[in-house]
Amino acid sequence: MKAIVCEEFGPVSELAYKDIDEPQPGKGEVRVIVRAAGVNFPDGLLVQGLYQVKPDRPFVPGAEFCGEVEALGEGVKHLKVGQRFICSSRTYGGFADKAIVDARMVMPVTDDVPDIDAANLLCAHGTAHHALKQRARLKAKETLVVLGAAGGTGIAAVQIGKAMGARVIAACSSAEKLALAKANGADELINYSEEDLKSRIKELTGGKGADVVYDPVGGDAFDACSRSMARNGRLLIVGFASGTIPQFPVNLSLVKEYSVVGVFWGSFVAHEPMVFMQNMQELFGWYRDGKIHLETDEVFPLSRTQDALNKVLGREVKGKVVLVPDHLMPR
Ligand SMILES: NC(=O)c1ccc[n+]([C@@H]2O[C@H](COP(=O)([O-])OP(=O)(O)OC[C@H]3O[C@@H](n4cnc5c(N)ncnc54)[C@H](OP(=O)(O)O)[C@@H]3O)[C@@H](O)[C@H]2O)c1
Repeated sequence: MKAIVCEEFGPVSELAYKDIDEPQPGKGEVRVIVRAAGVNFPDGLLVQGLYQVKPDRPFVPGAEFCGEVEALGEGVKHLKVGQRFICSSRTYGGFADKAIVDARMVMPVTDDVPDIDAANLLCAHGTAHHALKQRARLKAKETLVVLGAAGGTGIAAVQIGKAMGARVIAACSSAEKLALAKANGADELINYSEEDLKSRIKELTGGKGADVVYDPVGGDAFDACSRSMARNGRLLIVGFASGTIPQFPVNLSLVKEYSVVGVFWGSFVAHEPMVFMQNMQELFGWYRDGKIHLETDEVFPLSRTQDALNKVLGREVKGKVVLVPDHLMPR
């Protein structure tokens, strides 16, 4: 079977697409056939050794995927061979033809959700949903500012913010990205390459500031938002795609009485698996109701994983990019 192997932390160009032995499931595990895998910004950080989690090497990256159960390990009773599923794997392995996963992380998925959508609704939508629901406790009619609003988690936050009844202000770096955010329901748009983010947020909120800011970008955009919060606001720390982890003057939080709230979806999944499952049920309900959907930028064959990761890390993606094993790519 083919897999993408990270032999040692380093540039994406050092990832190998190679044959490896078919893995055998241990106790409590299942072997699965991967049909589609989502590519996320953290995958690019992980293989470079820049992510907060550092797996033993060599390893196969890929933390979210859709597939079919092929073999059951000892003690696995609740799954069947041939069952279709989605999975978020803390042990990675999804950038391959087959993978071994913890049977507890496998969620059966119904046939009305195509493989590519199913694979990709976990991480980005899961993160945005957890951030807005459990961490921000976003309320209907509140103003939500989404940074990097055409990226993977950003476009998910725009859709979910609308599903939760908020007024959404999307902020991105280009007119093309803003057009996508608008098509996904954003009420107001800010191009932060051309406009002053802080004064535009103030202007669009009548001087009040944002109730909730969803920030997967960091850097200057965070600094601007930290000065544009409403009283009782929540500034969500989701990621640092800009490459700069901001330094925060805590007096801003005191003066405005707003909260800076950390978001770590992987930790949430590990610590609150039942709430995670409830969240996924709500997300798939919204998917079926047409309130959320997957914005697919490009589908790459597994053998071109380097190109897919470079597109994500290079700020070029609108929505999500997806990997499909070469033998399953449509001809
Ligand atoms: N906390 C969690 O649980 C969690 C979960 C998933 C992801 N994350 C983190 O969230 C961040 C974003 O993830 P994502 O999936 O939304 O990524 P993404 O799809 O690549 O989107 C990130 C956005 O950040 C903006 N950006 C600004 N400067 C950038 C730069 N130098 N390089 C790349 N992008 C830049 C881009 O929007 P503009 O061009 O419009 O500025 C881009 O669309 C990452 O740091 C990731 O590790 C955190």
